[in-house]
Amino acid sequence: MTQLLDGNALAYEFRKEITTEVNQLKKAGYDAPHLAAVLVGEDPASQAYVRNKVKDCQNVGFRSSLEQLPHNASQEELLELIHRLNRYTSVDGFIVQLPLPPHIDAQEVILAIHPDKDVDGFHPMNVGKMALDIETFLPATPSGILSLLKRYLIDTQGKHTVIIGRSAIVGKPMSILMARKALPGNSTVTLAHSFTPDVIKFTRQADIVITALGVPGFLKADMIRKNAVVIDVGVTRVKDNSSSRGYRLAGDVDFESVYGKASYLTPVPGGVGPLTRAMLLKNTLWAVKRRKF
Ligand code: GUN
Repeated sequence: MTQLLDGNALAYEFRKEITTEVNQLKKAGYDAPHLAAVLVGEDPASQAYVRNKVKDCQNVGFRSSLEQLPHNASQEELLELIHRLNRYTSVDGFIVQLPLPPHIDAQEVILAIHPDKDVDGFHPMNVGKMALDIETFLPATPSGILSLLKRYLIDTQGKHTVIIGRSAIVGKPMSILMARKALPGNSTVTLAHSFTPDVIKFTRQADIVITALGVPGFLKADMIRKNAVVIDVGVTRVKDNSSSRGYRLAGDVDFESVYGKASYLTPVPGGVGPLTRAMLLKNTLWAVKRRKF
């Protein structure tokens, strides 16, 4: 029997808790938390992500603003906008939606974000704090996965976690968080990537498999052991003429075959994605609380 991890339900609970806290802040005379999002270019998936983040803000009573730059915006224009957002005292936190166009130096952009407003947790100062177990913003997707593991009481201690993909947004921070001396955590971690020979050798030994690859249907039933926990972070748009949108979202996991063999499995959509969004809201609320209280 495979139990699906319901990201929508848990994200709904988080949004409800956040709404209550926002109402308390407002009652106490404070402004609602303000999240700003920067979007460079017209990538449809990035536009959709950012639109959803703005919608989430409205949902919980946050203020939000969307700063859009054309795809050919210069590095200087983008840095200027970031410096402005750093200065605006009315903005509590902001994100720069990734990926950025290839002519933009993303590392320089991330370095320019003030660490106290870096609600994505991407600035080296915050990554360093995370690695050293100093309280800070945790990147939203890994943090959302931890919240799912915790909510479903999934044991991670002493387990072997295999993470596929070493991106700065998911794989790398996830490997640090699963190995940390805490729960969820205390796991033995293998971080597999494009140069890992015979990735199956590792996934077959794993108690927990986390895929963040962006290759639809990559993880098949014969690659996992029975009752493994499988967390699917992949979200790829796949052409689908039967859908009114012309595409559907596909995860890295071959759902049909893995369902029935895994003990727990996150669906796509409705698994990790909603929690990524909820954790961004949590980080923004924390940006406010740590400054005011
Ligand atoms: N692109 C994909 N995931 C993310 C995220 O969590 N934050 C930002 N800023 N960009 C992303």
